[in-house]
Amino acid sequence: MPSAVPSFATSSPVRSKRLGVLLSGLGAISTTLIAGVEAIKKGLAQPIGSLALLGTFNAGTDEEPQHVRIRDYLDLPTTDELDRLVFGAWDVVPTDAYAAARVAGAIDSELIDSLAHELSSVRAWPGIFDPRFNRRTNISFYKRGDNFLDLAEQVQQDILTFQREHQVDRCVLLWCGSTEAYLEPAPAHATLRQFEAAMRTSDHAVIAPSMVYAYAAIKLGIPFVNTTPSRTVDIPALMELAEQHETPLAGKDLKTGQTLIKTILAPGLRDRMLGLHGWYSTNILGNADGATLDDPDAFKTKQESKLSVLKSILRPDLYPELYGRLHHQVRINYYPPRGDNKESWDAVDIFGWLGYPMSIKIDFLCRDSILAAPLLLDLALFMDRAKQAHLSGPQEWLSFYFKSPMCAEGRSPEHELSRQLTKLQQALPGLVAHRATAV
Ligand SMILES: NC(=O)c1ccc[n+]([C@@H]2O[C@H](COP(=O)([O-])OP(=O)(O)OC[C@H]3O[C@@H](n4cnc5c(N)ncnc54)[C@H](O)[C@@H]3O)[C@@H](O)[C@H]2O)c1
Repeated sequence: MPSAVPSFATSSPVRSKRLGVLLSGLGAISTTLIAGVEAIKKGLAQPIGSLALLGTFNAGTDEEPQHVRIRDYLDLPTTDELDRLVFGAWDVVPTDAYAAARVAGAIDSELIDSLAHELSSVRAWPGIFDPRFNRRTNISFYKRGDNFLDLAEQVQQDILTFQREHQVDRCVLLWCGSTEAYLEPAPAHATLRQFEAAMRTSDHAVIAPSMVYAYAAIKLGIPFVNTTPSRTVDIPALMELAEQHETPLAGKDLKTGQTLIKTILAPGLRDRMLGLHGWYSTNILGNADGATLDDPDAFKTKQESKLSVLKSILRPDLYPELYGRLHHQVRINYYPPRGDNKESWDAVDIFGWLGYPMSIKIDFLCRDSILAAPLLLDLALFMDRAKQAHLSGPQEWLSFYFKSPMCAEGRSPEHELSRQLTKLQQALPGLVAHRATAV
């Protein structure tokens, strides 16, 4: 049995102002985050797309509005203070953020080269690998141990060493690894006791690598974010652990491109009482994420996440004559020439007065990691505040960032972007009281 590791939250007597941002998976979205933060620190860019750093909200009332920057309200770092963020990462290939950013090709090589020193200093630690969940071959850069509990303890040791070396006493961990093969809910996910029994016997059928990182982080009281569609922390057992260790959780699957547009448009069609015959969505992308999603098992994980949004927004139960016979289909095709520059098309077949059909076509030429990076930054900053405010379990107020927002058992996720934003803004005053030790 692995020995107990000290609680991260209480391991340092002196509170540092620095925040460790730990990324499991040092691929396109992680390196685009790190490069962006380094570019902002050098005055080469602005934090475009970051609600936490650029957004405002009304801290007053409708009668007496008081619009303030969220950054000032929560005492988040200014763009000059982003050196308070320190990055650490795991991967299953021996790489660093410079090499990985070049492979990802999400940002220009000239910009990457100008940040070479900062990027190459983030070297991946060996990750947790299981071929059942990731079909890549020739992987040898991963941790070996007696069982999954032992592996989780090794992850914790990486974190504690990082904390000591960088004089950081607070961390947030973001799971940014490749989408894992689809995992059905299992009895081992139901309670912490059953989950730990499966960890002890290294039950590959029910425990994915991302769950091992999650278990390790939560036991140290470190907020955990699942940026991918994998089930990971969205199981009762890990929610139970999060309550025990007062740890906030958020996920799953960043809402960046096609689904973002869908959750902006669909509420408008519904509010006008326009009907929908069908919504056909297809994508081409040529990055490593696209290659992963070429595996039908990984695609199944993604598809579940992408399909869930429309029903909850359109409410066919309330409006059967408008949405009762909706066909919603989502396809993703791996097409290498496009790299990280995804193109997504939507054919939205609507109908109006007297049932006359009409059609809306959307062609979004987007950049996957460019859209994802500011969300990672916001999530790291907001989750740290959630921890300071002693919040634990699924953070529904962060549903704004996700395709399949986590919520407490028995509750339904909110998908509508404007309502998600309202939820987030309503949560901010609750974080303010605890900002004395803020980053
Ligand atoms: N880019 C977006 O807009 C977007 C949106 C939603 C979700 N996501 C999700 O974010 C994740 C990362 O996306 P990406 O574009 O950076 O992918 P990527 O393939 O470029 O990077 C993933 C990295 O994770 C590493 N990895 C795989 N298994 C690992 C493990 N068990 N432990 C540690 N590292 C591991 C891979 O070696 C790779 O370096 C994917 O799951 C993707 O579905 C991305």
